[in-house]
Amino acid sequence: MNIWKKLTHDQVCERVFSALRGNVDYEVNNVLGVPASRLDDKVFFTEPGALAHAPFLSSLIHNPNHIGCHTLGNSEPFFSGTQEIERELIRLCAEDILLGEKNAQDGYVASGGTEANIQAVWVYRNLFMHEHKANPSQIRLLFSEDAHYSMHKASNLLCIPYVQIPVTEKERTADVDALKTELEKLEKEGVKHIIYVANMMTTMFGSVDDLDEIVKVLDASGFDYKIHVDGAFGGFVYPFISKKQALTFKNPAVSSITLDAHKMVQAPYGTGIFLCRKNLIEYVETGAAQYVQGHDYTLSGSRSGANAISVWMILQTYGPHGWHEKILLLANRAAWLGKQLQQLNVPYFRAGKSNIITMDASFISKEIAIKYGLVPDTHDNNPDWYKIVVMDHVTVDSLEPFIEELTTHLTEVNG
Ligand SMILES: Cc1ncc(COP(=O)(O)O)c(C=O)c1O
Repeated sequence: MNIWKKLTHDQVCERVFSALRGNVDYEVNNVLGVPASRLDDKVFFTEPGALAHAPFLSSLIHNPNHIGCHTLGNSEPFFSGTQEIERELIRLCAEDILLGEKNAQDGYVASGGTEANIQAVWVYRNLFMHEHKANPSQIRLLFSEDAHYSMHKASNLLCIPYVQIPVTEKERTADVDALKTELEKLEKEGVKHIIYVANMMTTMFGSVDDLDEIVKVLDASGFDYKIHVDGAFGGFVYPFISKKQALTFKNPAVSSITLDAHKMVQAPYGTGIFLCRKNLIEYVETGAAQYVQGHDYTLSGSRSGANAISVWMILQTYGPHGWHEKILLLANRAAWLGKQLQQLNVPYFRAGKSNIITMDASFISKEIAIKYGLVPDTHDNNPDWYKIVVMDHVTVDSLEPFIEELTTHLTEVNG
């Protein structure tokens, strides 16, 4: 680990307060031109003494705007102190978690996984358009049928038609034979460029695409392609439960990765993370952002620096080993749940050591599903599946009553 070290609360406070001191202080500096200030003190409690040990709340009150991308070029000087923390967070994620080379990635804290995924498709669409004079009809966005619906948004917004690749029944990963067939069809349609989004743990099943196999098929197809990994759910889980490196920056075929700290990291909402290799994010530079120092390379525009600080604080407080232990604990609880379901003969899907357990809905009553907040694969029809995501608050103690009630239900149904 180059960057990721466990820090004490005092060290975290020291670092964040020192970063805030590196930003503009609206009370002291005479800043007249920016449409920004501290949070309104008629509404928000801003007593400095009371916040002395609360670096995140202090960051919210200071309200730094992290507009732009801070891993390349210039950035707004007003918030340079806390931009440094975001830069460190991007390096921690890209290098220490996702095995990128030192300082070889760009990135920023986005509003969520959706934005980070759209940002990736935007980068590659522009790359194909600028470098190869492609028109959008010659580009296809490919992803598995279990991929997140943000792909559909990206396709719609960026006018890139999409193709969904069926998943295998057993593994629920993109079916490479179906991919081959689709690519043959696309060649006949005159498509030249592929943006492939691979899943690092899908929303409903936690399944992980076999990227090595996908790359073999893409290479053999002769298409020009770029690969983005959607690790919005899995980015802070999968690298800690699997030794495989195909979905990391160690794999030269991977150009960008989405992470999402407001899921497993329990950071505040607004903490998606977009990461990409150097020399890519420039394809979405908005030169028209003339009033922003360093221009803008992000979909967001203005965004809260406090969000980046919150993710940095959480990861530094755990440290790499503490985080690993946390994820293993969740995986152990999921294993316990799997064992109980097996004993009840309830079919379920669990990908490896994933903390998502997806159960056959026909074994679960609607009442139980509602009572225990299970999430169905669809709200529009009768669901085929219900999932449990083993988060921090989902302990064995909280799973036990669910299993007891399910046991009673199945006994009643089966006589
Ligand atoms: C795999 C995956 N990708 C993307 C997203 C979208 O994330 P967000 O809701 O933060 O935009 C989700 C959300 O559940 C997800 O599970």
